[in-house]
Amino acid sequence: MANTPITAVIVGGGHRAVIYADYSLKHPDELKIVGIADPDPERREMCRLKYGFDKAHCFESAAELAAVPRFADAVINGTMDHQHYDTSVPLLEKGYDMLLEKPFAVSEDEMRRLLDVIRKNGNKVMICHVLRYAPFYLALKQRVASGQLGDILNIQMAEHVSYHHLSTSYVRGKWANSDKSKTTMLLAKSCHDIDVMAWLMQPDKPVSVSSVGSIFQFKPENAPEGAGTRCTVDCPLVDSCRYSAKKIYLEHPDRWTCYAWADLEHKKDQTEQDRIESFKNGNPYNRCMYKCDNNVVDHQSVLVNFRSGATGTFNMVGGSAKSMRKIHIVGTLGEAYGVFEENRFTVSMIESDAPSGYRDEIVDLNEAGSEGHGGGDDNLTADFIRYLRTGEQSVSCTAIENSVAGHLTVFKADESREKGGQLVTIDLP
Ligand SMILES: NC(=O)c1ccc[n+]([C@@H]2O[C@H](COP(=O)([O-])OP(=O)(O)OC[C@H]3O[C@@H](n4cnc5c(N)ncnc54)[C@H](O)[C@@H]3O)[C@@H](O)[C@H]2O)c1
Repeated sequence: MANTPITAVIVGGGHRAVIYADYSLKHPDELKIVGIADPDPERREMCRLKYGFDKAHCFESAAELAAVPRFADAVINGTMDHQHYDTSVPLLEKGYDMLLEKPFAVSEDEMRRLLDVIRKNGNKVMICHVLRYAPFYLALKQRVASGQLGDILNIQMAEHVSYHHLSTSYVRGKWANSDKSKTTMLLAKSCHDIDVMAWLMQPDKPVSVSSVGSIFQFKPENAPEGAGTRCTVDCPLVDSCRYSAKKIYLEHPDRWTCYAWADLEHKKDQTEQDRIESFKNGNPYNRCMYKCDNNVVDHQSVLVNFRSGATGTFNMVGGSAKSMRKIHIVGTLGEAYGVFEENRFTVSMIESDAPSGYRDEIVDLNEAGSEGHGGGDDNLTADFIRYLRTGEQSVSCTAIENSVAGHLTVFKADESREKGGQLVTIDLP
């Protein structure tokens, strides 16, 4: 039985779903991809050839897949944020277990309705909170859970989103306008970080939150004088502006390939000329960074109160020189702090006999995996398979019932931000 792979159907064969599905190519005894639902015929065919299943198992939508008898153990749902609820419910009703991308819902109401469906049908659902599986955060969790740091009284976290990542996702890209994407930046980008905070604090629970944030930088009134509307088409500053699409994308075509050159995805042997033409022909990533339709904040601060009286703070800051996630956990016996991208943290223990008053230990995890999200993507897929096979939840397990505290804190933080920072109560289901 141990050698029988879990079978899964991809729903939404985009950038993320194939990362998890690729696990089947490395571990065919654990996971087998047996079908796809996606309206994009080229993505359907690409997945069919890559994972090797029959045309009869290619569907144009989640609804079409849900209309036929269940033929696999699970679904890998990698549709866009606002589609997660609608695409998941009919498949959960059909009995599929699910690996579901974050955010698993885009509102508290959707979240509660999704939980009701899962409780009724008894599905195993895990959320793609990949950071819990990165060696850095897992090692911190183990330190906290061991009691070494004592009772946790405060967690300080920050996520700095680089200027080119901010451009790609939250100014020029798919998550820039919440009327279209139905998500906020905190939900789309940093639900991972708030999830990590809630997970580290377990069994403590968040009870209230307040938050402020706004668009600071990329808005029309801040545009340099004389700026055009499309960088390589009508802007005289195309070679001097540090945010010009020419500098961010054309001169670094490998950096954000799947987003900036989405219209060329299926073109073999893409050339620089193809990319130049794409920018001339309405590619949204060529828009002036100050003159887009972005309405999501570019920075937001969140203050969380926990039932024990402990507090957590989180700063999301977009537009930084480099991407960085920082964390500092303070307990009654000691503290742990580090930078995720460095894959290393320091533990400082109170030691009143020592001349300095403390004892430091450096924990260096650079030997551990460094693939997507610090190795988190593959580790999460492996744990999903284990969870389906055994029903047992690991210390990282992102089963939906363990992921609610983070998501609900985000929904309530955004409610607080909309109310100018007013304290909002968190009532966990
Ligand atoms: N876990 C992470 O770290 C992480 C990182 C980035 C993105 N994400 C999340 O992953 C999700 C997917 O992002 P992406 O960039 O891969 O998106 P994508 O646009 O590349 O893929 C979505 C796919 O869904 C398909 N689709 C649309 N409607 C469908 C339907 N009714 N039924 C089936 N398929 C349908 C689209 O054709 C597309 O191929 C998003 O929710 C995003 O927030 C997660």
